[in-house]
Amino acid sequence: MARIAYHDADAEAFAATRHLTDDGLTAWRAAVTRHLTPRPGMRLLDLGAGTGAWARAFTDWFPGVEVIAVEPSAAMRARCAFAPLVAGDAGHIPLTDDSVDGVWLSTVVHHVPDLAAAAYELRRVLRPGAPVLIRSAFAGRHEAITLFDYFPEAIRVLDTYPGIADVEAAFAAAGFATAAVEQVPQVTAPSLREAAAGLRREAHTPLQLITDAEYAAGVQRLREAARTQTGPVVDALDLLVLR
Ligand SMILES: C[S@@+](CC[C@H](N)C(=O)[O-])C[C@H]1O[C@@H](n2cnc3c(N)ncnc32)[C@H](O)[C@@H]1O
Repeated sequence: MARIAYHDADAEAFAATRHLTDDGLTAWRAAVTRHLTPRPGMRLLDLGAGTGAWARAFTDWFPGVEVIAVEPSAAMRARCAFAPLVAGDAGHIPLTDDSVDGVWLSTVVHHVPDLAAAAYELRRVLRPGAPVLIRSAFAGRHEAITLFDYFPEAIRVLDTYPGIADVEAAFAAAGFATAAVEQVPQVTAPSLREAAAGLRREAHTPLQLITDAEYAAGVQRLREAARTQTGPVVDALDLLVLR
């Protein structure tokens, strides 16, 4: 069970507001390239692929790499513009043993109820030595994410997510070791004004799990700041690479 339902309203808001532009993802493209070493014929699993933004980006960026998207929510799958897309989750991946050369999990690990079981399942489907790339906001790591400047109460939600050390420990039991941890920047919005105008509470787990009053106060703070602040909204999430 994910922290939020990922039913129609969440899926619709996610598809409408959470896809980043290719220009904003330059550093992510470089980081994934560095750790995955993409090559034609490689099979990459996008686990918890959501509405398919990353699966599509990888297909564009890495010609000849076969991307397989797996997603548990029917509402997310219904809005996913990527194929092949199959139902499944981190505990039940519908792929055979030793069949993929890398796994991508973007903002998924905090929804996985049993990370240790997921690590064993990933060990099963991955070829030996292949990497797991985890993009996430981890507990204790709110500083580089703009949303938390305006919704500080949402930090208490983030701090219930797994921390980097928690994920490392769960994966260590299945034989994975940390290969890298780095913060990777992205352009989340062209301006704070556009970020404020496009904000949808349903698209952000930490905003769904604060109170209505806390959310309303944050929206007020964000709108006020957006009146004067110029320049793009640049955030950084973490990339944890395990092999
Ligand atoms: C914040 S969205 C991220 C979607 C996509 N990875 C992205 O970054 O655009 C989280 C996704 O994780 C999926 N999810 C929830 N529980 C999961 C699980 N146990 N295993 C795999 N995916 C899960 C949700 O259905 C949702 O699509």
